[in-house]
Amino acid sequence: KFPDEARVVRAAFMSSFFALFLGAIFGIIQTLHRTDVARIIPSTDYYTVLTAHGVFMVISFTIFFLVGLFTWALTRSLDRPLINIKITWTWYGLMAAGMTLTGISILAGFVDSIDMSADVLYTFYAPLQAHPLFYAGLAVFIVGTWIAGADWFRTFLAWRREHPDERIPLQTFMVLTTMTMWYIASSAVAASVLLFLLPWSLGFIDQVNPTLTRTLFWFFGHPVVYFWLMPAYMLWYTVLPKIAGGRLFSDPLARVVFVLFVLLSTPVGIHHQYLDPGIAEGFKFISMTNTMFLLLPSLLTAFTVVASVEYGARKNGGTGLLGWLTNLPWRKPAFTGMMLAGLMFAAGGFSGMVNAGMNINYLIHNTLWVPGHFHLTVGTAVALTMMAGTYWIWPQISNKPIYSSQIGLFQVVLWFIGMALMSNAMHAQGLLGVPRRTAEPEYSGFDYPTMFGGFEELNIQIAIGGTLLFVSTILFLGNLVLTMGNPKVSGLAEPLPSPVSGAEDAPKVLDNLRLWVSIALTLVVLAYALPIAAIINRGGLLGPGVGTYPVWVAPLFDALANAAATLLGAVGDASAALAE
Ligand code: HEM
Repeated sequence: KFPDEARVVRAAFMSSFFALFLGAIFGIIQTLHRTDVARIIPSTDYYTVLTAHGVFMVISFTIFFLVGLFTWALTRSLDRPLINIKITWTWYGLMAAGMTLTGISILAGFVDSIDMSADVLYTFYAPLQAHPLFYAGLAVFIVGTWIAGADWFRTFLAWRREHPDERIPLQTFMVLTTMTMWYIASSAVAASVLLFLLPWSLGFIDQVNPTLTRTLFWFFGHPVVYFWLMPAYMLWYTVLPKIAGGRLFSDPLARVVFVLFVLLSTPVGIHHQYLDPGIAEGFKFISMTNTMFLLLPSLLTAFTVVASVEYGARKNGGTGLLGWLTNLPWRKPAFTGMMLAGLMFAAGGFSGMVNAGMNINYLIHNTLWVPGHFHLTVGTAVALTMMAGTYWIWPQISNKPIYSSQIGLFQVVLWFIGMALMSNAMHAQGLLGVPRRTAEPEYSGFDYPTMFGGFEELNIQIAIGGTLLFVSTILFLGNLVLTMGNPKVSGLAEPLPSPVSGAEDAPKVLDNLRLWVSIALTLVVLAYALPIAAIINRGGLLGPGVGTYPVWVAPLFDALANAAATLLGAVGDASAALAE
């Protein structure tokens, strides 16, 4: 219906899948390397591979998919085109250019003759330092996402003027709340990059306060996981019930969940820093408590999505306590992929609870347990849902039916099996104490209780799992490429049914974004003002002592340092008084 927008969606999806392809190549290289099955790179290049894998997968693959999906969802649910397609192409162009710069700076690490390196991993905080191109590219990429959000907000406002009394359509509501969360979260990483990391890498300042840049990173680093997750939630809430032959069970509950993410996703970042010195235990405890509240939207989602799918199954004649499960379209890759993704998300939730507990976290901190956990969440709940969702959406935005549903079905099941093997063994090795981010974790002859097998046996599980995942990725991409060669047919567009309990049942206050933003910001200030004040008080805005700046930068940073010191000094005193 909107061919210009469909073109943007296709471009964004293709960028996303190109990143998935690169990410998968680096993924299999590092899997076979660290398990000692095949070492085709020198171990000194391991961090370059790991950085490429992390950045291409979780910054490029996921976020390009998100902007494509959100463009589709917004135009579909508002039933109008975007306000100015040139702006739309501008933000897509910025994102693509930014990621290309960052990608070049990472890949240059493989070429010894080029004096450029960005082996800083996808978390890129100090003390690891990258070439300025890495940070500049990221900054451009993030600005692109900000303009994308503005594009969607402006389109929504134009719709609002024409429909003053209507409820915000659910998919648009999801886009707007997710972007609200993204603006709050990404402001910190933008500050970290623009005020500290980029000037430091350019040589304008000679030091930074590492605790500060880490804290600013994790201010962003936790909500970003919900930024990856919300496209999957959108597909589970609005598309999965339709494929199951049913309807969403409750629009109001879906809205509550998205609002909860706006409120709760940011004031929890310090839970990634349980082992960081320089942050008082009390602040970590507050962060842990907030984190536990995040179980609520996930449990609400499990309830609502399963209820919606069950509704569809029963409509198709399903009966019994569990008998209805047989009345679901398991042969459709989009359905099975999303269901398996949801199942893995539940497992990821359990391993996440271990990460979140301040005391048990010490057991698995920085071990392979952690990648084991997030390959279940972002690596499967999100990635597999995105692939499965593509099987449903791609025909509608390209007018070409999927080349092979059978390959699609095989591919999503293969991903599930591969990830079950790889992630389970990663968790088990983590409990053994095997570190993550290590090229040669050699523990030969190290045995572990028979339940899990020894270190070598777990390595084999990881290697087999990783290989299946790689094959699954290639099947997905191959299927899509072959689909592109299919002839065009019309009539592939699919409407989405209205929910059982619709928007009219949702309290109006849920649509009051201003209110949620104010509460979210208040929570952020409560969670972060004291720790950040303490970090700056103790370690200085630019590290211990006054940093030395070139003459022309000095006044700028001095002014910033003074403003921050005045603002935060008062809070810091209050914190000291409280501590006493
Ligand atoms: C890390 C393999 C897919 C995100 C890792 C590690 C392995 C791995 C073995 C741990 C390396 C280490 O700590 O030494 C694979 C394979 C994949 C795959 C074989 C399938 C082709 C994904 C996907 C995502 C993802 C789909 C996210 C969308 C990450 C991230 C890291 C990681 C963020 C951490 C990098 C770091 O520690 O800096 N992957 N992975 N991976 N993976 Fe994957």
